[in-house]
Amino acid sequence: MVIASTVQELRTLVRGWRVQGRTVAMVPTMGALHDGHLDLVRAARELADHVVTSIFVNPTQFGPNEDFDRYPRTFDADCAMLDQVGCDAVFAPSVSAMYPDGFQTRVEVTRLPDHLCGLGRPGHFAGVTLVVLKLFHACEPDLAVFGEKDFQQVRVIEQMVRDLDCPVRIVRHPTVREADGLARSSRNRYLDARQRSQAPVLFRTLSGMASRIQAGARDPGSLIAQGRAAITAAGLSVEYLSIVDPDTLEDVASIDGPVRILVAARLGVTRLIDNVGAQPASA
Ligand code: PAF
Repeated sequence: MVIASTVQELRTLVRGWRVQGRTVAMVPTMGALHDGHLDLVRAARELADHVVTSIFVNPTQFGPNEDFDRYPRTFDADCAMLDQVGCDAVFAPSVSAMYPDGFQTRVEVTRLPDHLCGLGRPGHFAGVTLVVLKLFHACEPDLAVFGEKDFQQVRVIEQMVRDLDCPVRIVRHPTVREADGLARSSRNRYLDARQRSQAPVLFRTLSGMASRIQAGARDPGSLIAQGRAAITAAGLSVEYLSIVDPDTLEDVASIDGPVRILVAARLGVTRLIDNVGAQPASA
């Protein structure tokens, strides 16, 4: 497995594959890899001849009071795992390579970030779109795989790719879960044993809401009130619990077709997110 730390090195490698007629998939990550990420790499392997995984803890998507400094960095272990699942190359640039002195460009999708995580994390999605566009330019992949756990992120990236005519196909990959339903996340390692036992309430609650929607519940307000109560009773502090249109991410007034149910909640200092799709049986 090749490790490239500059855009030039990565481009040379990828263009070499291209002249041989090979296709390339990219899996952007911030490292601290777990089986959820490896699943994205495995999916990418099925879809293209070569896979590039980027590992870059992107400062521009963290707010001033967020966990950029303490975000786990496990580069050697990450590379060992990637090698085992057949990743061909890791792109691991430095912060100064990505954002050299004098950098002043912004890349921002305007409406989708006005909901959900975007409300509590101003500027977060502008940081994501900026870095993802730079990663796409560096790698020029045919396709890129993103996990649905970060559902709003995937929608924002899909929109950017559409609006800017980026020549890359975005592939959504279903959320990978622990046996008790907790969505795999690099931040789960912050949870102590008690918090780890509380955290599965998120998926249990979302699944219960999805079942009630399938069984005919139409009123988002009462579903959300009951869901919030269940999560709060388990000791978590709810940032948002929303039932939204899966494309626009706007709250729905009544449930008449496919919706997405999304949650963000805090357990101590750790912020967890999750989401599921739902639709009435008749829709
Ligand atoms: O989902 C992530 O890990 C990050 O937001 C991403 C897409 C790698 C951009 O830094």
